[in-house]
Order: sequence, then structure tokens, then C-alpha cells
Amino acid sequence: MRLHVADHPLITHKLTVLRDKSTPSPVFRQLTEELMTLLAYEATRNVRVAPVEIETPVTTTTGVKISDPRPLVVPILRAGLGMLEGMTKLVPTAEVGFLGMARDEETFEPVTYAERLPDDLSDRQCFVLDPMLATGGSLGAAIEFLFQRGAQDVTAVCLLGSPEGVNAIQKQVDGRDVTLVLGALDERLNEKGYIVPGLGDAGDRLYGTV
Ligand code: PRP
Ligand code: URA
Repeated sequence: MRLHVADHPLITHKLTVLRDKSTPSPVFRQLTEELMTLLAYEATRNVRVAPVEIETPVTTTTGVKISDPRPLVVPILRAGLGMLEGMTKLVPTAEVGFLGMARDEETFEPVTYAERLPDDLSDRQCFVLDPMLATGGSLGAAIEFLFQRGAQDVTAVCLLGSPEGVNAIQKQVDGRDVTLVLGALDERLNEKGYIVPGLGDAGDRLYGTV
């Protein structure tokens, strides 16, 4: 597994505002989208492209375009939905599939309650979006789902990750082609499975649930 942890003052600045418990939902939503756009630059570093010939006003030249089959972007509902627009702004031709997952807050086991993905993902590059990588249960289940459908490679983008979550994903992927892009790697999980220092419950903060 390749791990990339962002190291950029603009990302750290935006994450700091996001972490602040006094940041209201509308600002939280805006920052989540902006952070995703910044992380998309790194996440798409290995997106497949094919040569294409075009005519500029001056001459003919060769460039590239994103290859077929198109990349598939999969936000994990609910909180991952807050990152979708930030990704599709940069990759507007991507297809979007959905996975609905909720973590059982006693056992930390993920429960999949919705799935809307193409049946056959052979040869597809997949991008999973979820702001929080805590125990790794939810992201791990999502990655498994995509590989079972035939995905070629999976890149996961999370705003915050815990060392426990990164280790869990690392163990699980076992040589398969997975890249993990994090906005920051935090210190640890607390006894409730929350990331420390973290930002609290991402879904609640995005959607104003008190
Ligand atoms: C949060 C978060 C991740 C998951 C992370 O979602 O968005 O999906 O928890 O925890 P894990 O790494 O221990 O699985 P939650 O289950 O709270 O659902 P929500 O997005 O609907 O708020
Ligand atoms: N889910 C969240 O939204 N936040 C955490 O810190 C852990 C899981």
C-alpha cells in the first residue's frame, strides 16, 4: 500500500479551522469540499491517460486525456458525500457510485445499508472518499467491496486518519494496488473509537446533527 500524508500549509490551515468545534456546518461543508480538491491533486497522480492529438490555433500537437473506462468515484455515505463535489470539480468525467455505511458505535463494525455501484468494475480505477479513517472498518469494507467487483486499483482519500486505521488497511490490502491519501495523520483513537485530536463526528458536523 502506498501512503501519502499531505504536507502543505494551506491544507493544514484549512484542517485547523475544520477541527475547531466552533466552526459552523456551512463553513465545515465548504472546507471539506476545498480540502478534497486539494487532496485530489495527489490522489489522481496515477490516473490513467491516453495520448490524444489536437489542433491548437497554431499547430497540431499531442496531449493526453483520461482513459476509458472512466475512473469511478465512490463517496461513503453519509460523510463522504461532503467530499464528492471537491473531487468531481477536478475530474468531471468520472462516474460516481455510492456506498452507504454506518459504524455500529458499540462494536465499531461497519454496516452497509446502501450500494449503488456498477456490477463489473474490471479494469476500473476507483477513488473512495471518506473524511475519517478511524478503526478502518468502514474503509476496509469499502475497499473489499470494490476489489470483489473486479476493480484494478483503489485510491482512498480521507481528511484525517489514525495510526490504528492505517495499520488495519495496510494489513488488509496485502499486496493489492491500494493508495491512501490523508490530509493529516493524527495521534490515536480514544476509547470511543474517535480520532484524537480529530474533529469529532464528521457526518454530524457536515449536516448539522446535534
Ligand atoms: C464515520 C466516518 C467513517 C467511519 C470511520 O461514519 O465517516 O465512515 O465513521 O470509522 P471507522 O474507520 O472506525 O469505520 P459513520 O459511521 O459515523 O456514518 P456517517 O457518515 O453517516 O456519519
Ligand atoms: N467517525 C467520525 O466521524 N469521527 C471519528 O473521529 C471517528 C469516526
